[in-house]
Amino acid sequence: MEETRSAQGAGRGGAGSAGGARRTGRALTPVRLREVEAPRVERMHTGIGELDRVLGGGLVPGSLVLIGGSPGIGKSTLTSGALGNLAAAGRRVLYVSGEESASQVKLRAARLGPGALDVPIVAETDLDTVLATIEGERPEAVVVDSVQVLYDPALSGSPGSVGQVREVAGRLMRLAKERGVAVILVGHVTKEGSIAGPRVLEHLVDCVLSFEGERERAYRTLRALKNRFGSTNEVGVFEMHEHGLVEVEDASARFVGEATRAPGSVVLCAMEGSRPLLVEVQALVAPSELVPPRRVANGVDRNRLALVLAVLARHGGVGLGSSDVFVSVAGGVRVDEPGADLAIALALASAAGGFALGGERPLAAFGELGLTGELREAAHADRRLAEAAKFGLDGVVSPGAGAGTLRQALSRAQSATKPLEMRAINAN
Ligand code: TYD
Ligand code: MG
Repeated sequence: MEETRSAQGAGRGGAGSAGGARRTGRALTPVRLREVEAPRVERMHTGIGELDRVLGGGLVPGSLVLIGGSPGIGKSTLTSGALGNLAAAGRRVLYVSGEESASQVKLRAARLGPGALDVPIVAETDLDTVLATIEGERPEAVVVDSVQVLYDPALSGSPGSVGQVREVAGRLMRLAKERGVAVILVGHVTKEGSIAGPRVLEHLVDCVLSFEGERERAYRTLRALKNRFGSTNEVGVFEMHEHGLVEVEDASARFVGEATRAPGSVVLCAMEGSRPLLVEVQALVAPSELVPPRRVANGVDRNRLALVLAVLARHGGVGLGSSDVFVSVAGGVRVDEPGADLAIALALASAAGGFALGGERPLAAFGELGLTGELREAAHADRRLAEAAKFGLDGVVSPGAGAGTLRQALSRAQSATKPLEMRAINAN
């Protein structure tokens, strides 16, 4: 909080208060909110629809946006692409590369299409030089890649230390506000999210975007963790290709098409912010040699998995206490909502029993599990059902309509499964 105030307040005339000078304050006349002038900001469209949507409708001039993600996830690719599109649309842009040489950045840009090569670049890590260059060039949008490698030699800490990272972000923030430049800061986070960089900046910047996914997998999700100019609910889905990141607008179709429909597979009707998304939840249950047995969760919260396992054992008749359990959301997507409980439970039951769920189309489900085994409503049920229907998934197991408890949901799931499939399984 303190840093926010000092960063924003600096340069607004606090000079006289230094040293032993007498402090006198000038009384202000408050203005009624209704009379406050709020100029309509015209957002810059990056030409990357998923990015614009997550930003809340485009890049706001004078804003400071932090894009965090683990190394190799595609932050440089995404930001280069955005600047390339802005340049192609006639905007003044600047790419400050502290991590890679100009020629390395060029190699990447060459794969990204024509606009990307029109982006002016400086390869520099000295903060004063970078600030002076931005002052001189007066771009409308700047990418600083990354906040961890820029440094102020006047400060003692090494690049990437908390002090340096704060200084870099604070001074870029001031410049952004004074000159109306949109500044995108790239920041690396480790798997534990622990690095000094992005975490200490969250309160300072206007938007924090998190770029996630598994490096070996093609899918990437971009979500806003904080957004002063929009909702934090939006999620963008991308796929890493040979020629850069491609937006996945029909993510549901993609994930349903890829669903294996084997034992342990269930399609979850998830909500990613305001957007329904169908994703495949996979579970594997195997006899364990370990005490306690393994519980591995990819793309779902570990604590929710623990809860689902307990409810399954206590109220669903599916005890997995001596089994290793693996649950993952296919495609490297992360779902962080209680509405995922039922799909996880059904996937586990299906994996444990060795039977596939669903008929010609995969079985879909959503709903929250309560501690007493009851099935609770999940937000936006209508939109989840509509998304499922859109892709021909008609047998959705969800709260209400005869499924008030986990047990009822389990039997609904079994009865929604085509006998043909059952016979095929029994024959194995
Ligand atoms: P990069 O944007 O450099 O990641 P970050 O800046 O987050 O560290 O890209 C990471 C990976 O993406 C890199 O291993 C190469 C791969 N990639 C592609 O597969 N296709 C492409 O067109 C580009 C530019 C990168
Ligand atoms: Mg990079």
